[in-house]
Amino acid sequence: IHENDWEEESSPGSWPYIGFLHGIMFQDITTMLLKPEAFRDTIDLFVERYKDKGITVIAGVEARGFIFGPPIALALGAKFVPLRKPKKLPGKVISEEYSLEYGTDKIEMHVGAAEPNDRAVVVDDLIATGGTLSAAVKLLERAGAEVVECACVIELPELKGRDKLGNRPVFVLVKAD
Ligand code: PRP
Repeated sequence: IHENDWEEESSPGSWPYIGFLHGIMFQDITTMLLKPEAFRDTIDLFVERYKDKGITVIAGVEARGFIFGPPIALALGAKFVPLRKPKKLPGKVISEEYSLEYGTDKIEMHVGAAEPNDRAVVVDDLIATGGTLSAAVKLLERAGAEVVECACVIELPELKGRDKLGNRPVFVLVKAD
């Protein structure tokens, strides 16, 4: 057992857990995963929203989009498409670079994972500056898919992430200060 570098803000059992790492504030969903009813309710809210919308792809952004995306995809009978950090996917990929609050990063998608006629929802835990979701949307649209909506558990509205997504709708469950 060892301590990490996080400076604690909220109590460990609270949701979302708020902490600071090297001066950057993070809202963390892992405490919610310890409460099966809360996790199930969260998934159910997304499934209810998308169940009659002809969604064929749920695209999850690494890493925490991999927590929420697959149960939604299974409930909808949709494909789950992982959008991964560089050099993780084994096949041919397309890439998009994006900027974060703290540097730049890149995400990749397998060629052929999403196609024209697919109707996609991009899922992640959180929208902050919107750079990550914007890159995710670009990957899907480059593949010819229609991005119906982006879906996140938490939004940090002060960072105006929606501005990076143009007219594309963003659905969130929690708006955090
Ligand atoms: C976090 C979060 C989102 C992204 C949101 O991921 O899970 O994916 O940042 O930030 P943005 O709206 O400013 O782009 P992070 O980059 O920490 O990667 P990780 O999930 O792999 O830790």
